[in-house]
Amino acid sequence: MAHASGKVILCGEHAAVYGRPALACGIARGVFAHATPSVPSSLWIDGQRIDEGTETHSAFQALCRELDVRDRRVDVQLQMPTGVGLGASAAMAVAMARALLDSSETADAVAEARILAAADAWERLFHGNPSGIDAATAYAGGCIRFQKGSDFRGIDLRQSFELAIAVAGPPSATREMVAQVAQFRERDPVTFEQQLDAITSLVDDAEQCLLALDWPRLGALLDHNQTLLAEWKLSTPEIEDCRQLAREAGAWGAKLTGAGGGGCVIALPGELGSDPILAAWSRAGYRCFSSSIATVR
Ligand code: MEV
Repeated sequence: MAHASGKVILCGEHAAVYGRPALACGIARGVFAHATPSVPSSLWIDGQRIDEGTETHSAFQALCRELDVRDRRVDVQLQMPTGVGLGASAAMAVAMARALLDSSETADAVAEARILAAADAWERLFHGNPSGIDAATAYAGGCIRFQKGSDFRGIDLRQSFELAIAVAGPPSATREMVAQVAQFRERDPVTFEQQLDAITSLVDDAEQCLLALDWPRLGALLDHNQTLLAEWKLSTPEIEDCRQLAREAGAWGAKLTGAGGGGCVIALPGELGSDPILAAWSRAGYRCFSSSIATVR
C-alpha cells in the first residue's frame, strides 16, 4: 500500500502562490492507495467507483497520462477529512502516483519529480494554479520549507511537536480564495508586496523557532500571520471563535491553515498540551483532533 500525508500550512499560505516561502507539515492522517493491472483503468475511492466524465475521473486520467502508466485499477482509502484545507486532494494524488509507479515495476531514479508532476496534473483540474505546496508536503511527510519553483527542503526538528486542528466551518474553494487574494494585489500592489514581505520575514523567523524549539515565539508568529491573512478577508467568525477558544485553553498561538474562508484552524498547544484545546472546541461543537508532527521528512 502506498501512503501520503495530509498537511497543514504552518505559515505562508497564499504568499506561496506568489513565489514566497512557506512552512508546512505532514500530519499523521493521510491517504492509502493500491494499484493493480486492470482494463480499462478505473479509480475507486473508499469502495466507490468514480464515474467517467466526472472532474475526479478526468484528474485521474491526467495523473496516469503524466506517469505514462496505463490499464490500472486504483483503490484509494481516505483516512482524513476532505475539502477542509488539509490537502486531501494532493495526498490522494501522491498516494495514487506512488501506487501506480510501484505497480509499473520500473526502478525509477527520478520518482520524486514524476510523482510531483503527476500530482500537479491532478491538482490543476481542481485548483487552477496550485503552488505545489500541498503535493510537496504530502510527498515529504515531516516539516518542510517550500518555495514555488525551487526544491523544497525538510526541516530536521530535534523533537516532534503537536498541533491541535479544528474544522472551523464549511469547506472553502481554494480557487476562489486564491482569486480573492489576487484582487487585493490588483487593487493595491504596493501594500500587497509589503504584506508578502511581512509574511516572508515571519516565515524565516518561524523556521528559526522550529529549529530552536521556541514554542511561545512560534505561537506569536502564527498569530501575526493570521492578522495578515485576515487583511485579505480570509478569516471567518468561526475561525476567530476557534482561535479565541484555543487561546483561552492555553495555546501559544492559532491561525487558519490552507486557503481560509472556512476550513481548518491550527493551534500550537501551550504547556497544558492539546487536550484542553480539543475539549474546548468539542464543547463548542467543532470537529477536531491533534496530530504529531514528525521530526524528519
Ligand atoms: C492551499 O493549501 C495553499 C494556498 O497557498 C494555495 C497554493 O499554495 O496553491 C492557498
